[in-house]
Amino acid sequence: MSKKRNILFVTSESVPYAKSGGLADVTGALSKTLAENGHKVIVVMPYYASIPAELIRSAEAPFSMNVWMGDIEEWCLVHPKKINENLEYYFIDFQNYYFRDGMYHNLAMQDYLDNPKRFAFLSQAAMYLCKTKQIKIDIVHAHDWQGSAALAYLKTHHWNDEYLGSAAGVLTIHNIGYQGKYPKNDYSYLGFREEDYNQFIFEDFGGINLLKGGIHFADIVNTVSPAYANETLTSEYSHGLDNILRMKGEQYIGILNGVDYAEWDPQNDKLISKSFSVKNMSGKASCKKDLRQHYGLAENDAPIIGIVSRMVEQKGLHMLANSIEAIVKNMHVQFAILGSGDKGLESYFASLPDKYPGQIGVQIGYDNTLAHKIEAGADFFIMPSLYEPCGLNQIYSLRYGTLPIVRATGGLDDTVEQYDESTGEGTGFKFFDATERAIYNTVGWAISTYYDRPQHYRAMQKRAIQRSFSWKDSANRYETAYEHAIQIKKNKTQA
Ligand code: ADP
Ligand code: GLC
Repeated sequence: MSKKRNILFVTSESVPYAKSGGLADVTGALSKTLAENGHKVIVVMPYYASIPAELIRSAEAPFSMNVWMGDIEEWCLVHPKKINENLEYYFIDFQNYYFRDGMYHNLAMQDYLDNPKRFAFLSQAAMYLCKTKQIKIDIVHAHDWQGSAALAYLKTHHWNDEYLGSAAGVLTIHNIGYQGKYPKNDYSYLGFREEDYNQFIFEDFGGINLLKGGIHFADIVNTVSPAYANETLTSEYSHGLDNILRMKGEQYIGILNGVDYAEWDPQNDKLISKSFSVKNMSGKASCKKDLRQHYGLAENDAPIIGIVSRMVEQKGLHMLANSIEAIVKNMHVQFAILGSGDKGLESYFASLPDKYPGQIGVQIGYDNTLAHKIEAGADFFIMPSLYEPCGLNQIYSLRYGTLPIVRATGGLDDTVEQYDESTGEGTGFKFFDATERAIYNTVGWAISTYYDRPQHYRAMQKRAIQRSFSWKDSANRYETAYEHAIQIKKNKTQA
């Protein structure tokens, strides 16, 4: 049993309050699990305009707090919300920064230009919160570039502080494709030291790179699967940071995400039309029917391939766009698609149902209930990602007996076992090349397995449902990483 620690999460998203992707699932579930394990966990995140007031309402009164940014003193409101004895959220209410249409960009998908200020402010507010509330912290756990500045503040502003001075810093990189790179204009507002503006810390081609600075100041850096940890040490996957990551040596590790089976399990999922389990799969047929009705798909014996995704380049949907029409013309299969993001991809996919009525269903937007219905009602789930740090949907799919068809990269490779046609082993279908042809062929392989080797398909479903990626195991790995970080920090202090 590990020591009980006081852990501060600095994150831009967490379920159930604000979510654009898996980051929110992870911070929500990991904080909950760590609290269940007896640690005291504090989650600091922005109070966005999109968060309904009733969701953050609590018995504790909001309070005002000052935060020093560079030599400017800002004031914000803080809304505390106690979830249980061990878990408390603090929402940073600074309307000038967070009361906007989106979390990171406007409705036209343009990044807010003051993002470095917005999230450095969040990070510094998290530091000031611990001082104000007099909470002694053992671990500052920053998530992605949005939380990265916290580690710089911890190590350069608050290193001697009564409440923060002995804390170690952990940075989780959920996606190295997003680094918080912006022009240098705001450097003085951010309040980082002038000497830290160099090629090993914050400087990047003449601008600021917040994630890079976070990596430097962290005692332990991790990403969200072992395979992606290895990939990001190569220039092909690192988006320019492989050198910096290599310098961390053993202080850079991969910890696979877990999933929250309280939310994502067909045995107790309230959002699907009928529950089912490995012992009794009959409910899955009702879920398929329900999904077909939702999308107006034809009632026949075709399998359904599901997609729930941010529509961005990372997810490989431009390659799918180049193969989906050939797939539906040549194979007896249907698609149920949900996603939003890139306007070009959105409008392409939105045009498909008219062209292939009854065969392709598309809904553009964000819809959690429909995401559950797709997991439950589809027969396959496709993720042709160019890269995938972990990926949660393929793990959800396994639990719903919806066999994943994935590119063998990052967490997709770590969580899906390749089908072996000679033995029937495996839990899904993997391909290696990031090409339309590879997608086409692998979908063909999956569909032919469904029709021609139904005994294999059924056995794979049962195997998939029984695979477990619970947070318990992943949280234990974080606990070990925390202890390691504390040790590293101690050694540095003594040196
Ligand atoms: P990423 O974080 O890169 O988007 P993940 O697979 O880790 O990828 O997590 C995506 C999460 O967001 C999943 O919980 C998925 O169900 C959800 N999601 C993505 N797009 C949508 C959408 N359009 N509607 C509902 N949920 C979505
Ligand atoms: C990122 C990644 C995704 C991962 C998620 C949670 O958004 O793109 O692969 O599952 O973070 O860690």
